Amino acid sequence: MAKTKTIYVCQNCGVTTPKWAGKCNSCDEWNTIVEEIEVVGKNKTLATMVSRNLSKPLTLNEIETGKTDRFTTSNEELDRVLGGGLVPGSIVLLGGEPGIGKSTLALQVAMSIPHKLVLYISGEESLEQIKLRSTRLSGNNEGCLFLSETSLENILVQIDQVKPDILVIDSIQTVSTELIESSAGSISQIRESTAGIMKKAKALSIPVILIGHINKEGSIAGPKVLEHVVDTVLQFEGDRNFMYRILRASKNRFGSTNEMGIFEMSHDGLRQVSNPSELLIGAHHQGLSGTAVAAATEGARPFLIEVQSLVSSAAYGNPQRSSTGFDTRRMNMLLAVLEKRAGFKLISKDVFLNIAGGIKVADPAIDLAVIIAVLSSNFDLAVDHNICFAGEVGLTGEVRPVSRVEQRIAEAEKLGFQQIFIPFANKGIHTQKFIIDICRVKNVPETLKLLFQNKK
Ligand code: TYD
Ligand code: MG
Repeated sequence: MAKTKTIYVCQNCGVTTPKWAGKCNSCDEWNTIVEEIEVVGKNKTLATMVSRNLSKPLTLNEIETGKTDRFTTSNEELDRVLGGGLVPGSIVLLGGEPGIGKSTLALQVAMSIPHKLVLYISGEESLEQIKLRSTRLSGNNEGCLFLSETSLENILVQIDQVKPDILVIDSIQTVSTELIESSAGSISQIRESTAGIMKKAKALSIPVILIGHINKEGSIAGPKVLEHVVDTVLQFEGDRNFMYRILRASKNRFGSTNEMGIFEMSHDGLRQVSNPSELLIGAHHQGLSGTAVAAATEGARPFLIEVQSLVSSAAYGNPQRSSTGFDTRRMNMLLAVLEKRAGFKLISKDVFLNIAGGIKVADPAIDLAVIIAVLSSNFDLAVDHNICFAGEVGLTGEVRPVSRVEQRIAEAEKLGFQQIFIPFANKGIHTQKFIIDICRVKNVPETLKLLFQNKK
């Protein structure tokens, strides 16, 4: 006999308690604990479970892998982030703030996959709304079926009947099951619905794209729980007011998490940006001080990005230090290196730093460009716009080796740069295959001498 039980679940971290409380003991958040009703009908003991038909353990050689061939989504940027395409039976969670373009991306992918039957289930939009959106996007896949549905039970029936090659659910927060009393979007509903969809998808080997909202703290709403069960977690980011959108994997069972996909939101949907350098260095600010171009990489893809800095005298009190797209603590460290190792007095200066395009870069190889941009602004001396930089800066002011240096050089050359500064410590580079002038530097003072000496 199924019984119901009242439990209290924190909507932030998913912890359950037998009693309500104003503050969650586990994550210290206030007003996140909500009453939920759970059906506890399974009076199973371990003994009854053991007598079940169990699957047999296999050696690696015995496991068949024929089914895990990936297939492409016809969207290069998405494929790259997924690690080469969708893996049958895998669950991809696509998270992002409202209005960032999750539904647009999913719909665009659904409409452009050739020769595959896609089932697109939306709990957020009516069929007319989807139709309206689709008219703005290019691509017209006849093999794409749409359904507006929120009940898990009905969704599972439809999956069985349609047997799609790909399933899209927009969004997991709108799906609910009758088995649980609590409202759609609560932790137990999300957990149950995902489990139901996942079981079906794994059984039929259907890849699923699940769309998930994120809360104001930036994590996928409720389901930290969810991130553990799905195979891939994709985050769609970017300031809503910028045109560019970045897709990254924060977890990927079938590929690397270093890759990044770049899209541009236009009036007819998301355009893939296959050559990011083009937009990230944008218009050359010939003759203006305070900018330097860094040869960065994200995953396996090199791109050039402009670092902008503004250094001015602090009016009162503590000088301001602020950065967008670059870790502020790392910027402070680089400023300290400049003070101590290169003798620049920046102590009474406000320093502002900005990475072009609203993109966050984690690659330490942009350190050198940051330092050059800061000093360029400080001296009001422009850096020649045909020069770019790649190098990590250490605490002693040494320029440390960077990864994939040849790819960075090749990208700089491709974009018409005439000189690139790279770390001396990067050995074994086939310099003869490049036309671009390669300048190898050991430390920050040496770099500055080469760049600014004739000008000062
Ligand atoms: P949407 O994809 O609905 O975002 P989400 O599902 O993540 O909440 O919304 C995307 C935003 O982009 C929306 O504000 C309108 C805009 N947009 C365009 O600029 N061009 C387009 O072609 C489409 C479809 C949307
Ligand atoms: Mg949406």
